[in-house]
Amino acid sequence: DRPSLVDPFGRHVHYMRLSVTDRCDLRCVYCMAESMTFLPKADLLTLEELARLSRAFMALGVRKLRLTGGEPLVRRGIMDLIGELGRDVAAGRLDELTLTTNATQLDRHAEGLYRAGVRRINVSIDSRDPVRFQRITRWGTLDRVMNGIAAAKAAGLAVKINMVALRGENEDEIEDMVRWCGENRFDLTLIETMPLGEIDEDRVDQYLSLAEVRRRLEARFTLTDLPDRTGGPARYVRIAETGGRLGFITPLSHNFCESCNRVRVTCTGRLYMCLGQDDQVDLREPLRASPDDDTPLIAAIRRGIDAKPKGHDFVIERRGAAPALTRHMSMTGG
Ligand code: GTP
Ligand code: 5AD
Ligand code: SF4
Repeated sequence: DRPSLVDPFGRHVHYMRLSVTDRCDLRCVYCMAESMTFLPKADLLTLEELARLSRAFMALGVRKLRLTGGEPLVRRGIMDLIGELGRDVAAGRLDELTLTTNATQLDRHAEGLYRAGVRRINVSIDSRDPVRFQRITRWGTLDRVMNGIAAAKAAGLAVKINMVALRGENEDEIEDMVRWCGENRFDLTLIETMPLGEIDEDRVDQYLSLAEVRRRLEARFTLTDLPDRTGGPARYVRIAETGGRLGFITPLSHNFCESCNRVRVTCTGRLYMCLGQDDQVDLREPLRASPDDDTPLIAAIRRGIDAKPKGHDFVIERRGAAPALTRHMSMTGG
């Protein structure tokens, strides 16, 4: 008899993605333009407000909380917030506290994350070739990310690797990534690039259908569909040859909105009910106007859930077309 947020389509929302900063120390070519500008720090919710907001969602039935960014580990004081939210895990108010990170800061935080109650993290890495990695992230250093991943593994964190499949960029590396993840016991999810925000390249050139990737992998490996769900959007298969688990996140080639269970909140306190729509509800106002009573905040959250759209309408087909949404992925953390 847990409380639950149910939207008009009967979908239960128990997964909250909380973006703690829009900033990132990298500029992945499918995510941001090189000349990206960030929000003034004064617009951000404080760490205390982020914790209060998270607890309001927990009181309404959220059981899984993922911190995102930008890059969550560049937010000042982030480990304090994670320590605070770890108490909700210990008290059974949350089933999972986790984060999606680019791993550049992970070597010094991995142990602290484990101590706080984090057991699994998702790391974005689109190439294991140092030159390519740098090209995709614009100035990232692969070594640093690899050190971060090694530290996570040593600290006992389960690691899932996220790889955005990019035509002509890393498509010839997917097989290698599958093997490397298998050897290291990392889950791997492949992701289709989504049309959010102006970037410097054309997404028509970048887009690679994972239906096509799957067919190619099936020529090399034996894939068996798995019923496993992590609560996220990926559909998983087992790879017989490596023993590893491989997920496909396919918003373009196979829409999964009918089973959506999540919402995202930005670092300025805006509730976005769908990654692929602009509908939003401001939570900062009720949060600040009523510091000691969550009633207005909870009413605003319920209003958002009542307006959760049926799904996205992403398309990537016309060269030179404007992105479906002007907002970048880094605003909502994906
Ligand atoms: P798990 O808990 O491991 O299943 O994680 P996750 O896949 O939910 O989270 P992660 O942050 O690793 O996101 C992987 C990719 O899925 C990112 O590109 C996200 O933007 C994308 N994603 C997550 N939720 C949604 C969604 O509701 N719609 C769409 N289109 N993409 C999503
Ligand atoms: N399309 C698909 N995935 C994206 N990510 C960032 N921008 C995009 C995009 N436009 C991915 C990152 C990270 C996750 C949070 O979202 O690589 O793994
Ligand atoms: Fe930063 Fe992640 Fe965007 Fe890359 S995908 S620029 S690491 S927020």
